[in-house]
Amino acid sequence: MAFPIHRPRRLRLNKTIRNMVRETLLTPNDFIYPLFVTFGKGVKKKISSMPGCFQMSVDEIVKEAQSAYKLGIPAIILFGIPEHKDEKGTEAYNPKGVVQKAIKAIKDKVPDLVVITDVCMCEYMSHGHCGIVKKGQILNDPTLELLAKEALSHARAGADIVAPSDMMDGRIMAIRDLLDANGFKDMPIISYAAKYSSAFYGPFREAAESTPSFGDRKSYQMDPANRREALKEVALDIEEGADIVMVKPALSYMDIISDVKDTFDVPVAAYNVSGEYSMVKAAAKMGWIDEKKVMMEILTSLKRAGADMILTYHAMEAAKELEK
Ligand code: PBG
Repeated sequence: MAFPIHRPRRLRLNKTIRNMVRETLLTPNDFIYPLFVTFGKGVKKKISSMPGCFQMSVDEIVKEAQSAYKLGIPAIILFGIPEHKDEKGTEAYNPKGVVQKAIKAIKDKVPDLVVITDVCMCEYMSHGHCGIVKKGQILNDPTLELLAKEALSHARAGADIVAPSDMMDGRIMAIRDLLDANGFKDMPIISYAAKYSSAFYGPFREAAESTPSFGDRKSYQMDPANRREALKEVALDIEEGADIVMVKPALSYMDIISDVKDTFDVPVAAYNVSGEYSMVKAAAKMGWIDEKKVMMEILTSLKRAGADMILTYHAMEAAKELEK
């Protein structure tokens, strides 16, 4: 029996009833806040393609981390912009690198804030690719050693969680092995498991200065047209020891978030990437959308789709919105 017995509008009658039947509740605890750490002191440099985001030196990052924690955001993820880049990404595993310094400084001042680090070579390589390059090819197996070294150096600096984003095959196992062999068997790994080769990363590459100098990332990141393949990638990473798996980007990939959530029993993270963020900022600047409402709708939708945690540049603004 449908209408007139059933009238779904009854449960939308007023705000209190709507709140009672709301299925998805967003809280600041859902957010992971990405931060870009650079060398120097007192640096807080605007990223023009990502209004509201900055490249910050260690001292500035610490302040931002404190504010995030005060707003109830449980975790940040750090991306490094090193002083110099080379063909081996040396700065990625330099114990005195920018990320390593930032981890120590943050853990010193805000010990309960969870510090996650992005583990990837692209920001540290002169060519901007996520792995070792030989004759125009991005080599998988030799890159694993560098990634594992990078993860270990983040662990030694005091990171709480490492998050490899490079999409090399076998890197979760390589990282797990090296961490375990060095006394970090309890350190969780968030795998960027289903990471697509996406044009939505455009603004990030300006932010992290990691645009590849030749070619693209299609030989290692996934084809946006593929859905089943995401489940294969996630299954492999869980087998290799991933504790949390990520889908990236988020907004155009909600079917993938939902599939992963339904198929596996590990927590799912979704990365609301730079292009998704900048589109909202740009449309709002033009006066075409209500920025805060669109932001909250996007974040709520990602949680509804199955994300247990959301990496988002909106984290601070959204947390403030939720405080109201
Ligand atoms: C590094 C990395 C990228 C992002 C996160 N880690 C860029 C890329 O793969 O080119 C993108 C984040 C964003 O767009 O917000 N591999």
